[in-house]
Amino acid sequence: MTSSAWYGLLDHRYAQYRKLRAAKVGGMGTASRYAVVACACALICLLVWTAYAGRERLEMTGPQVQLGGNPLRAGSRKLVGEQSPEGARSEGEVGKEEKRAKKASNQKMLGEQQVPRLVQEEVQELSMAERQTHKEAFECDRHSPLTDVCTLQGDVRINVETGEIVLFARDPAILRGPLSVRPHPRKWDYNAMRDVTELRIRAMDAAASQEFPHWECTSHHRAPAAVFSAGGYCGGAFHDFNEVFLPLFQTVRQLARDVVLFVADLKGPWWWRGAPAADTLVGAMTKHRIRLLGQRNDTQGEAQGVQCFERVTIGLRHHLCMYDEFGGLETRSESLAGARLSDFGPFVAAGLRAEVPSPARVQVAEGSTPVVGIVQRRGTRVLANFEAMLASAEAAGYRAVALVLEELRPQEAVRALRQLDVLVAVHGAGLANLALLRPGAVVMQILPYGEWGKGRLVGREYRNLADLQGAKYLEWHVPLQDTSLVDAYPLTDPVLMDPDSVWREQHTVAAMRIYHQQNVSMPEDMFGAYLRHIKKDLVFKEKLRAESADMTM
Ligand SMILES: *[C@@H]1O[C@H](CO)[C@@H](O)[C@H](O)[C@H]1NC(C)=O
Ligand SMILES: *[C@@H]1O[C@H](CO)[C@@H](O)[C@H](O)[C@H]1NC(C)=O
Repeated sequence: MTSSAWYGLLDHRYAQYRKLRAAKVGGMGTASRYAVVACACALICLLVWTAYAGRERLEMTGPQVQLGGNPLRAGSRKLVGEQSPEGARSEGEVGKEEKRAKKASNQKMLGEQQVPRLVQEEVQELSMAERQTHKEAFECDRHSPLTDVCTLQGDVRINVETGEIVLFARDPAILRGPLSVRPHPRKWDYNAMRDVTELRIRAMDAAASQEFPHWECTSHHRAPAAVFSAGGYCGGAFHDFNEVFLPLFQTVRQLARDVVLFVADLKGPWWWRGAPAADTLVGAMTKHRIRLLGQRNDTQGEAQGVQCFERVTIGLRHHLCMYDEFGGLETRSESLAGARLSDFGPFVAAGLRAEVPSPARVQVAEGSTPVVGIVQRRGTRVLANFEAMLASAEAAGYRAVALVLEELRPQEAVRALRQLDVLVAVHGAGLANLALLRPGAVVMQILPYGEWGKGRLVGREYRNLADLQGAKYLEWHVPLQDTSLVDAYPLTDPVLMDPDSVWREQHTVAAMRIYHQQNVSMPEDMFGAYLRHIKKDLVFKEKLRAESADMTM
């Protein structure tokens, strides 16, 4: 599977979901969802410079959602504060008394800290007094179109090798299961989910726990656990970000890294890029060692046995989704996520000790030298005039950084991206890294010939991500004279003369295969001109900010 192969299966995979949804909510106008702004200029150019829509737009560099009053976050800070001195290092056995006391206080706080609406509603059915004494829970939220999430609270044990998860419950009302959960946020996608381990979870009678010696705890943890699968299409930046990094961030962010991660279906060292697990974007989200579900040994080669917790979340919540096949209403909402995408970069940078001295949001004062990163790919969609573009950027008054993302270790990539004011890249999975930019940055996506135009879905996921990120988004549409496709096809071929018909008549995957196989260039004088333009705008924005700060004084 190529990293964006999901488009191809879009139609038949979504058809059923759409029908269901239409029946339920009365249809959302699929056509309008897919409607893409048609390109007026046929060959040269077209820049979508959203920022020029007006002053408000310029000022809207942060997410629109106010999260300041989110009780969930307040609750979680408390949890971290109370646990931090030794809780952070409690991988081993802890005294039973101590454990019980801790358990009571934790559960009280954990109860306040649940993010998802639906689970929250279930909790709200309990009175406050009940909630404080209620120490066991077994809740599954299967309402999201993307993901199922189950939360087990009490004496929860994970057999790491088999992937079985049991809550030993004292309360007979809790007894349940076994239930199946596939902990991966593509549940509508049969093709992806075939590659995702089905976990069996259940609640058994605590009184009978001695009858199951193989369920004896190898170690007790004070930190909660999160269990997820890195199967499906994971293995390339787009799906890694969309299906793991962002939902994981949403799910564990408020735990301040005091969470034990269990990963199923890890196919290869794809977060590693040669780095130890702890130095990856997933490693950045926990201070504990990452555990591999379905394997006898963990990432450090030690036997994992039965790991015991007071709270385990199975599956990742996902409201920071890049694509918008579900209308983007439930699936891309920072308020539902309880987390802002613009906090993702600082969060992982801190976890990787990759913070940079640059200001938290992009600032380009008059006379300063902004930094532009130009991504070069290997193999396909290579920028043929890359060197000339770098030179042109320098000439436009920028410091130009060449980025070959797959050759950087995660720490280096995070550090590099957090220093950029402008990111330029040809369409491709590496653009998902824009989630790491600082708010206020500018993203320029270069769409190869044939990949822009009426009805294409190509590239929209990154525009969505940029919007969420508070970044400004531009597109450059590569014209016919700047693609290597002219060497591969006769000029009369529909691939060159009528891309619309190719997309209409071919299966999306087939069309994508054709148009992904090209190298492109962006005329460097044009590139320089746009960079000058962008620089002026960034300075202008800075001024605006200074003025509005004056006004509030
Ligand atoms: C797994 O762990 C056991 C016990 O610690 C050890 O003997 C064995 O060599 C390990 N296997 C691998 C593949 O690391
Ligand atoms: C694109 O450029 C790369 C690197 O220069 C080269 O290996 C590849 O053959 C080129 N592909 C096409 C379709 O021109």
